[in-house]
Amino acid sequence: MTAIYSRILGTGSALPERVLTNADLEKLVDTSDEWIRTRTGIRQRHIAAEGETTGDLAFAAAQRALEAAGVKASELDLIVVGTTTPDLIFPSTACLVQHRLGANGCAAFDVNAACSGFVYALGVADKFIKSGQSKKVLVIGAETLTRMVDWGERETCVLFGDGAGAVVLEASPEPGIYTTCMHADGGYKELLWNPVGVSAGFTDEPNHGVRIRMAGREVFKVAVKTLDSLVEETLRAAGMEASQLDWLIPHQANLRIIEATAKRLNMSMDQVVVTVDQHANTSAGSVPLALDYAVRSGKVLRGQNLLLEAFGGGFTWASALLRY
Ligand code: UT7
Repeated sequence: MTAIYSRILGTGSALPERVLTNADLEKLVDTSDEWIRTRTGIRQRHIAAEGETTGDLAFAAAQRALEAAGVKASELDLIVVGTTTPDLIFPSTACLVQHRLGANGCAAFDVNAACSGFVYALGVADKFIKSGQSKKVLVIGAETLTRMVDWGERETCVLFGDGAGAVVLEASPEPGIYTTCMHADGGYKELLWNPVGVSAGFTDEPNHGVRIRMAGREVFKVAVKTLDSLVEETLRAAGMEASQLDWLIPHQANLRIIEATAKRLNMSMDQVVVTVDQHANTSAGSVPLALDYAVRSGKVLRGQNLLLEAFGGGFTWASALLRY
């Protein structure tokens, strides 16, 4: 029996128009462009306009990915959206995007794995394709994370941005995704979380207590260590050596974390796609935004091997090794 792979047919992305620079943030909180750049690598971030939702960004990214893939929305048999900032509690953002695309009838659901959301969604979609259940799948990572940022808290407000990216996958005898890895450890929930919700309840604080809380230094340490073992596990699972990788497309949270992972893989920074300077941390949007940028700027070419990885709240961490 011939193996079935998930191949990326096309990519797309979308960013809100409004850009907030480090200099703009200097006016809001006690911070400096120098601190933000040296500690994180971030220079600017895009911020969703009032009324502009995760679904709006996801829809725009999806349209571009479908166009690049040459696939009509009506051909899709599954839509998976990685997001932790859905437009509504329900229906899922995947359902909202499905209807706007005119793909009504196909399966559609969201995956909440915080910053690992897109890579988780890609892993789930790959299983649907490998099992023969789906032939053409739209996978999106989309967030408006700045909606839960406290603009008075310098420890977190400088780190995040909004955006979305998407890929269209097709079942193919040619690789394709070689392997995906997914992990979580809920024991770390309090290091990076937003501790309110429909069931747990909201608070009397501003924005009903909807606010990211992060123990940055602790998250940093666990992220570096965990990503080191994740990339090694991924290479082992695919039966590949790091020297066979053409590109690392990492989650864009902090340039220092990205550099540490590249070093572990013995990859030069010329082989790493970096967008954190432009986009900041867009959570589930970050990896597909970086991928689409790399494809459209002519960096990533057909036939090259890409390692995608992400780490985020949960904690969750996930990877995909694929031939583009
Ligand atoms: O996407 C999900 C995963 N998330 C991450 O991967 C984030 C991981 N963590 C990080 O990226 C880094 O830990 C941060 C960028 C959040 C912080 O960098 P750091 O080097 O770990 O700094 P720190 O938290 O240890 O803070 C160092 C100092 C502190 O002052 P003192 O105690 O040394 O006097 C902070 O109060 O920097 C201060 N500080 C700031 N100063 C200027 C914290 N935030 C700021 C700021 N501007 N925005």
